Amino acid sequence: MSVSEATTSPLIALERIADGGFAEVEAGIDGDFESLVLYRDGDAVRGWLNICPHAGRRLDWAPGQFLKSKAGDLVCAAHGASFSLQDGACVAGPCKGDRLRAVPLEVRDGQVFLA
Ligand code: FES
Repeated sequence: MSVSEATTSPLIALERIADGGFAEVEAGIDGDFESLVLYRDGDAVRGWLNICPHAGRRLDWAPGQFLKSKAGDLVCAAHGASFSLQDGACVAGPCKGDRLRAVPLEVRDGQVFLA
């Protein structure tokens, strides 16, 4: 899939992500297929590369299965770094002060697209 195809094809239907929940999708970005973590916040969806800045591991413990702390942060399954779901900043753990790499998204007609 080329980048242009990737930007015109929806990543996932909004309704497939629970409000306050996560989904994992793959998308062509800069010529590579990348795993993304998507987080739904009402009608909005935020996304980041599914790569932890600590040791480069995936954030999910199984494909699409992400941990959320009681404080509402995304928790890396590898060593427990916590990330703000507002801006992807690491707020606690071994990479505190670093951040996830954001992927711009938009929601149109009930579908999530790369922006
Ligand atoms: S790889 Fe995520 S906390 Fe170590």
